[in-house]
Amino acid sequence: MLPELREAACRVLESGRYLSGPETESFERELARLCGASGAVGTGNGLDALRLIMRGYMELGRLAPGDEIIAAGNTFIATILPATELGLEVRLIDPDETTHCIDLHEAENHTTDRTRLIALTHLYGNPSWDFEAAARLRRRGIILLEDNAQAIGATVAGHPTGSLGDAAAFSFYPGKNIGAQGDAGAVCSSDAELLRVIRALHNYGSEEKYHSRYTGYNSRIDELQAAMLRVKLRHLPQITAARNATARAYSESICNPHVSAPAWLDGCTQVWHQYVVRSPHRDELQKHLALNGVDTLVHYPIPPHRQECYRGVLDHLSLPLTERLANEVLSLPIAGTRPDEAREIALIINNFKPKS
Ligand SMILES: Cc1ncc(COP(=O)(O)O)c(C=O)c1O
Repeated sequence: MLPELREAACRVLESGRYLSGPETESFERELARLCGASGAVGTGNGLDALRLIMRGYMELGRLAPGDEIIAAGNTFIATILPATELGLEVRLIDPDETTHCIDLHEAENHTTDRTRLIALTHLYGNPSWDFEAAARLRRRGIILLEDNAQAIGATVAGHPTGSLGDAAAFSFYPGKNIGAQGDAGAVCSSDAELLRVIRALHNYGSEEKYHSRYTGYNSRIDELQAAMLRVKLRHLPQITAARNATARAYSESICNPHVSAPAWLDGCTQVWHQYVVRSPHRDELQKHLALNGVDTLVHYPIPPHRQECYRGVLDHLSLPLTERLANEVLSLPIAGTRPDEAREIALIINNFKPKS
């Protein structure tokens, strides 16, 4: 892929056009096509994509400060940061234990008359959707936002994530399945009005140069990132297939009563952004792997409602499963890890005996 990336970067350098040019336009078109949405807007990063969607709905009068949004307790904090910043009230709920994502049917039970939006994170590349519950929620005017930062290329019943809800946020942070050479993100939607507002908001709130209709932001994708991301989008099937082969090797080889492997979800394409095992002896398991030369990570050790920034705001919440997951999840190496290496790591896991 390197020669193609080099060629794309040189094309931009030679063009002398670094923002809002033909690469961005093509990237947006190609991303929207891939995700089955009618349009996309490239943004500075995934957090801004989420912020722009929420602000966009506010400008359209569909969301207002004080409205309630629902998100999963175990999501990455970026899903809810823009909500609290914009004065929305965040209600966190425990995820489904199999998918680690919100179960929309279960989320219905948590809605109130003030619920205006559900932000569903397809965590770890696990897609999650319930078409019937989604239709009922939509009939009540509840906006369904997909945080698709970790799940580009995933599908549910053949439908790509990013096209299931009313709008979706993408991150192209370098560690994502499709990673930029820096920060980048995007919004996908089939709501032309929302896309129009977001396009303005991401460029100082202006639709016409030097005329600001909204108090906007500066959060555009740049031409270099767009050109290189276009290359990576073309390689997405191979990128997903490589992760899938490694995940398969882990799942076929891990066999230890103290460690549970992640579920393979029926009717879905998972994209294995993370391969996350669970163990009640997680910290010991992590040390055992480190002693054997295997680096692992925890996504995420402190859930948002336990973060310092939400002290006095969200820390009254009781989310037993979220808290258990924070103590038990462990992400094994996946990007760039070959299936034979995964099988070796599985053997190390199989030799793990907790002392506690
Ligand atoms: C679930 C989720 N949402 C949002 C984000 C924010 O994306 P970014 O880092 O591009 O701002 C990330 C990634 O970091 C993420 O994993």
